[in-house]
Amino acid sequence: MKIIAHRGLSGFYPENTMLAFKKCLDLNIYGIEIDVQKTKDNHLVVIHDEKVDRTFSGTGYIKDMTLKELQSLNSNFKNYENNKDCKIPTLKEVLILFKPTDFIINIELKNSKIKYKHLEENVIHLVKELKMERRVIISSFRIKSLHKVKALCPKIPRSYLISKKFYKYRLKSIIFSKVIKNKSTYISSSYSITDKKFIKKCHRRDLQILCYTVNTVEEYEKLLKFKADGIFTDFPNILSSIDK
Ligand code: G3P
Ligand code: MG
Repeated sequence: MKIIAHRGLSGFYPENTMLAFKKCLDLNIYGIEIDVQKTKDNHLVVIHDEKVDRTFSGTGYIKDMTLKELQSLNSNFKNYENNKDCKIPTLKEVLILFKPTDFIINIELKNSKIKYKHLEENVIHLVKELKMERRVIISSFRIKSLHKVKALCPKIPRSYLISKKFYKYRLKSIIFSKVIKNKSTYISSSYSITDKKFIKKCHRRDLQILCYTVNTVEEYEKLLKFKADGIFTDFPNILSSIDK
């Protein structure tokens, strides 16, 4: 079972920060998952929300702020407000941290609410520059974005993200035909829709299934039994210690 640290060791430290990523380095896990957005001055930054408000001591959209403005903000996570490793990191900083390791980095393109221009091109350019094509997975809730990734660099594995809402309202056969057309290696699905039947359906189509966000031992053991291929968890330290 592949254990992927969701936004770093985010169950204990401020999510998507260098501190949360550094805390994963000693863990025996498959990799980390990060969310990527783009600043006003075209820098790729690692942060989950389109706005800084929930996780940082500021307000506004990432797309309206420069990297310098964003990096002046402090985390609002209790006791980590003044930690210099708890600023908003660039994608480059995160990739460089993991380059000397065996970790796989799942880069989630956050482009379902804001259609950042050239997000795919910019991410792939950086991955290629660092020669990390074999070390990343690129995921998105937008299949068009994964088609673009495939066209730009077919050897980078792709994962189509599926939320509960999306799965409920879309024809399931259409979802699968899109993923097969994209030649994605993975489907990353919400825990709420990841049952035994769904996992079997994916495996029949040669798709590996990564499930988000799995934070309890019970959920983890259930997915082990169903033969899921991997999980995203905020507690990779706890779940990796009971890996079978
Ligand atoms: O990539 C899995 C998971 O991170 C997708 O949802 O909202 O946590 O980015 P979210
Ligand atoms: Mg994510």
